[in-house]
Amino acid sequence: MSDNVAMTIRVGFLGAGFIANVHASLLRSCNVVGWAGVFDTDRSRAEAFAAKTGATVCGDEDEVLAGCDAVFICTWTSEHLRLVEMAAARGLAVFCEKPLATDLAGAARMAETIRQAQVVNQVGLVLRFSPAFCWLRNLIADDSSGRVMSVMFRDDQYIPLQGMYKSTWRGDVSRAGAGTLLEHSIHDVDIIESLVGPIATVSGFSAEFHGITGIEDAVNLSMSFANGAVGSLLSVWHDVLARESSRHVEVMCENLWCSIETDDWWGPVRWQRADGESGSLEGGELGERVWAAGLAPVNPDQGFLDAVTGGRTLGPDFENALRAHVVVDAAYRSAAEGGIPVSVPAGHL
Ligand SMILES: NC(=O)c1ccc[n+]([C@@H]2O[C@H](COP(=O)([O-])OP(=O)(O)OC[C@H]3O[C@@H](n4cnc5c(N)ncnc54)[C@H](O)[C@@H]3O)[C@@H](O)[C@H]2O)c1
Repeated sequence: MSDNVAMTIRVGFLGAGFIANVHASLLRSCNVVGWAGVFDTDRSRAEAFAAKTGATVCGDEDEVLAGCDAVFICTWTSEHLRLVEMAAARGLAVFCEKPLATDLAGAARMAETIRQAQVVNQVGLVLRFSPAFCWLRNLIADDSSGRVMSVMFRDDQYIPLQGMYKSTWRGDVSRAGAGTLLEHSIHDVDIIESLVGPIATVSGFSAEFHGITGIEDAVNLSMSFANGAVGSLLSVWHDVLARESSRHVEVMCENLWCSIETDDWWGPVRWQRADGESGSLEGGELGERVWAAGLAPVNPDQGFLDAVTGGRTLGPDFENALRAHVVVDAAYRSAAEGGIPVSVPAGHL
């Protein structure tokens, strides 16, 4: 057996839909990947995934788990909890897509399961690897920027029951849990806290323009942060099919204004400083600067494999995801009460 073969991590997949295929594309450039089993309740999806990757189509979830070292859980959200428990019981490394669960209780139970099992784990809070957000965080963290005063975050995408996602489950509250805030903007909640700090109080307002009960498609959060900053998050699912996912972010610090415009991965990121300096970075140049500074790995899924190889979790992990669920849950409780301010418990629970 060559050293390379000895280093191989057998990767299994539960769910072979949209995001599983995104991971497959990223993993193909990782040399330690050994394609193990794939199972999807829609067998044709597992077969298409197997044809693309060389994975073996399995007859059930157990067969995948029995033949892998690390598993990617990429089913619709309501299945995550059960599958994470099955994987953790076998001591496997777990990559689980966001949101962890359809509600906070499920997410808390999953985080506890992973804590007890002490397995390497990661969640799909992928904005943490975005060159644009990494550069923004770097600007904010600079001592000369002063304290963060405010954040304004707008996220819109067409409702993903159509277009490239074309999922029916996102319109089914029993499988998705809720609408745009939980299913999509849990990314935003996570990245906002990683940029600004913990949210202390939230007021939420939500609406259901598409008329799907429990699947809100317009949400506005007004937030105060433990460090005194204030902010807003607006998340909308509309029907403009030309707009897949668009985020516009502006952060104001005492001595710095910075923004992400157009593309939440490649920018441009623009900034102006109190001393007169200003700048703009986007595209490949932004990526090169971020990667050269070691602010993010070039390939997020390589980071997970490196963590598996090294036997330690690098994150974002289940604890980070649970924290985002805590905030989202507080926001929904506020919205259900007409927007009354709700305190966000500190920490993970
Ligand atoms: N990180 C991100 O940016 C990102 C992007 C898209 C989706 N997601 C998340 O990934 C998950 C999947 O989303 P998607 O867009 O790939 O949906 P999808 O509908 O394209 O794929 C989900 C697949 O899971 C399969 N499935 C359901 N139950 C299963 C089970 N018990 N075992 C095996 N397969 C099962 C379905 O048949 C379907 O093929 C969701 O939780 C979603 O929120 C994350």
